Amino acid sequence: MKKVLGLVASQRKLGNTEMLVKEVLANTGADCEKEMIRLTDLNLEYCKACYACLPREMNCRIKDDLAFLLGKLQEADAVVLGAPVYFLGPHGVIKVLHDRLLSVGSKQHLFQGKRCVTITTYGAWGWEGYARSVLNLTAHFLHLDLVDSFVIHGANPGEVWLNPATLERVREVGRALFDPGYRKVPGENQCPACWGDFFRFKADGTVECPLCGTKGKVDHNGLKPVLSFESSGHNRISPEGKREHFENWLVIKKEEFLAKRAQLKELQKPYGAYDWWVKPPVQAE
Ligand SMILES: Cc1cc2nc3c(=O)[nH]c(=O)nc-3n(C[C@H](O)[C@H](O)[C@H](O)COP(=O)(O)O)c2cc1C
Repeated sequence: MKKVLGLVASQRKLGNTEMLVKEVLANTGADCEKEMIRLTDLNLEYCKACYACLPREMNCRIKDDLAFLLGKLQEADAVVLGAPVYFLGPHGVIKVLHDRLLSVGSKQHLFQGKRCVTITTYGAWGWEGYARSVLNLTAHFLHLDLVDSFVIHGANPGEVWLNPATLERVREVGRALFDPGYRKVPGENQCPACWGDFFRFKADGTVECPLCGTKGKVDHNGLKPVLSFESSGHNRISPEGKREHFENWLVIKKEEFLAKRAQLKELQKPYGAYDWWVKPPVQAE
């Protein structure tokens, strides 16, 4: 039996994200086992930047719910990841989770091949921001196989269903989730890897996706700019790109740190004397 895991990055009960994720899951068929996790219900601490999870065979040392979440992801055959836009980015729990994925960066084998769909909900027209791209990066840094990604408008809870096309689109995703032929591609002038739609224009006339690093160029069809991208597929979220960063660069940086620890400690020392920290008073029970 196939298993699908729905991840909801919103605290709002029966909010737009939760309902959209549930609608996808509900359409995967009776023979598909379903599980859901509200990411904000988990105890996910911030990454402490201790690098104890490097190299590859190590795990994160923080004893919280990350291991539970990664276990559930490992058990699943497909993942539906939903988050609302908050201040132009995804809900903060996505960033907290994202930072904890340092321990997963070199463990491609654990999650590879699991299909993933991302759903981004937003409420203010034109305020979608960069949330979808970050959500897609989360999927890629978990090594999931991103087959579709969509952005849906709806401010108040329930508003997403005011557009009947949304319900149809979401149901179709659920029905197609395990169909090997189901794979949507980003549209024109979108990054082919992370679906981002903002770019860094370089001095040499090329463009680069600032998130995943996919490179391309700009041509003009009359006055209309047309972007085209390198077909090599090499970027930060490609298997080679991730290996380069997580298994090579980061591991080398850690070794460098261990070798130069005494020297670096000396450089830190004077700043330890500046003890200007303030903390909020302890609240009475
Ligand atoms: C703190 C906060 C910040 C928000 N920021 C944005 C925003 O930048 N852009 C936007 O379009 N909607 C924004 N919204 C609206 C939500 O994205 C929208 O209501 C969404 O449907 C909420 O999904 P949910 O019901 O699953 O929580 C914000 C909502 C909150 C609570």
